[in-house]
Parts: sequence; structure tokens; C-alpha cells
Amino acid sequence: MAHNTEKSYQDHLCDIYHGEEFGVVMFQTAADITKDKQVKEKLLVLKRLEEEVIRLLTPLAEKHGIAKASGSYLSRAKQTGQALGTNDWKKELKKMAKLVDGCIADYAAAVPLAPPEDQERIRFAVAHEGVIGQFIAKELAGQDEPLSPVTDFIAALHNIPPYSG
Ligand SMILES: [Fe+2]
Repeated sequence: MAHNTEKSYQDHLCDIYHGEEFGVVMFQTAADITKDKQVKEKLLVLKRLEEEVIRLLTPLAEKHGIAKASGSYLSRAKQTGQALGTNDWKKELKKMAKLVDGCIADYAAAVPLAPPEDQERIRFAVAHEGVIGQFIAKELAGQDEPLSPVTDFIAALHNIPPYSG
């Protein structure tokens, strides 16, 4: 996005929330379609991360009146998921790494606009994109336990205090 500074906090929150809904559908679609069992397991862990971020952001979305993503938006997520589950895994991961970098910049722009009670959760939303980036780097490098940053992060999310907005 070229005009982050012109977006309101509500606009950012809407984009972030919908982005995570997109991620759930994309990873689930890819997991359903891939023929590689190991890739499928990884995709399902990534989907769980997206679900956890949605859970984190839902009270914020409700407070700020954010609607669920539209069907046409989510049908694009299905198309992206089909490509992710069908095409060369490493090539797709390299594409995803670029998207993740863009998301980090977009999501981070929401932090200074967020009300104090939302800031920690928005920071976690920013951080989870970095965690996906760490997974991609480890996976592309062929390292052991590439998902460990993701599973550690999911555990950390469960320690966040209840939302008091
Ligand atoms: Fe995400």
C-alpha cells in the first residue's frame, strides 16, 4: 500500500483482520489440495497461526465494527491457496516471503494509530508475519524443525492477558 499514512486505524484493522481470514482460507485450501503429506502438515500449522491471530483480533474487530471479509475476497484466497498447494513449494514460499514483507510494513503502520488498549495485540499481529518469514527462511534453507518459531509463537499468544478495551 502506497498511502499507509492516509488510512485510519479502522481501515488498517479491517485490512489486517481480512488478511488473516484470507490466510486461513488460503492455507486450508492448499492443505486440502497438496499431495505432499509433510507440506500438508506445515500448511495446517500455518493455518492454526492465522486462526490464533484472528482470535486475538476479534474483540478489537467487534469493538470497531469490522465486518467479516466478503465472499469474493475469500474466493481469491481459494485461488491463491490452490496455487500454493499445487505449484512448486519452494517457488511459492519465495513468493510468500515477499508478501509477508509487505504485510509487515502495512501492519506495522497500524501500531502508532491504535488506541493503547489495542496496541499489544496489533504488535503481535505484526510479529506473526515475521514468524511466518522465519518459517519460510528455515524451510528454504532445509533446516530441522522449520515450524518451531511458529509453534513457539502460538504458545506465547496464549499468555496474552484478556482484552480490556
Ligand atoms: Fe497472517
